[in-house]
Amino acid sequence: MLDMIWTDLGSPVPREQSLSYQPVSWPVGEPFFLTSPPEIVALPVLSDVIEGRRTRRSFGHVSLAQLSQWLWLTGRVMAVGHSNYGFPLTQRPVPSAGAIHPIHIVLSRSDQDGWQLYLPDMHALTPLLIPEQTRSEVRDELLPVIDIQNGIVVRFIAEQGKTSAKYVNADSLIWRDVGALVGQMALVAEALACNFCPMGITGHDWCARLKLEGRLVGTGLAVFGSR
Ligand SMILES: Cc1cc2nc3c(=O)[nH]c(=O)nc-3n(C[C@H](O)[C@H](O)[C@H](O)COP(=O)(O)O)c2cc1C
Repeated sequence: MLDMIWTDLGSPVPREQSLSYQPVSWPVGEPFFLTSPPEIVALPVLSDVIEGRRTRRSFGHVSLAQLSQWLWLTGRVMAVGHSNYGFPLTQRPVPSAGAIHPIHIVLSRSDQDGWQLYLPDMHALTPLLIPEQTRSEVRDELLPVIDIQNGIVVRFIAEQGKTSAKYVNADSLIWRDVGALVGQMALVAEALACNFCPMGITGHDWCARLKLEGRLVGTGLAVFGSR
């Protein structure tokens, strides 16, 4: 019989004394503000969205309006609260352990070279000032795992130190936070009649290349495209 191989990440426990953590300062350009979706956005009823959701792997070009609505309903900051951890706690559309939201959303759009960081408090995108990767280089790099076509590539990049400021054994919380986000992204993509495919690769090698003090970890990718 094969022995089970399982990496025990330990059970998280809040620290008796929380740590103070200085968040990573990303090298970014000017923010580009996405428009807030109108108050009343006609979306299908939830049960139809749940019944209809499937992973679909054809990815057309996503309009800025669709991207804006998708990020609004999955990633934006809705309320900000005080903390002693060195950064604020936030409420967003998805749950997060300790309301910490350690996952950054980084995008490659079909019509642009380079990578963009989503700024959830401003509902804006900003170019990452890192060695430029052209869109065709992004496509070629991912081709062994998926043909991204004209889809948006989404990287989930975790800032482990944030969750670790509050919890001992924080890592499993981060993996579960990514899962909560990916699940909601899949449902909202379906509600917008768009296609979405989560990817098993972590993309951690890309993070390591960023050299941002080794504080960011790749915790997955996804592709989001029009139908
Ligand atoms: C964590 C995770 C990783 C996945 N990785 C991949 C992947 O690397 N490539 C792929 O084509 N689909 C991937 N998928 C999509 C699954 O294959 C898909 O969800 C599964 O076949 C069930 O289909 P459904 O989403 O339509 O219910 C992944 C899904 C999840 C949740």
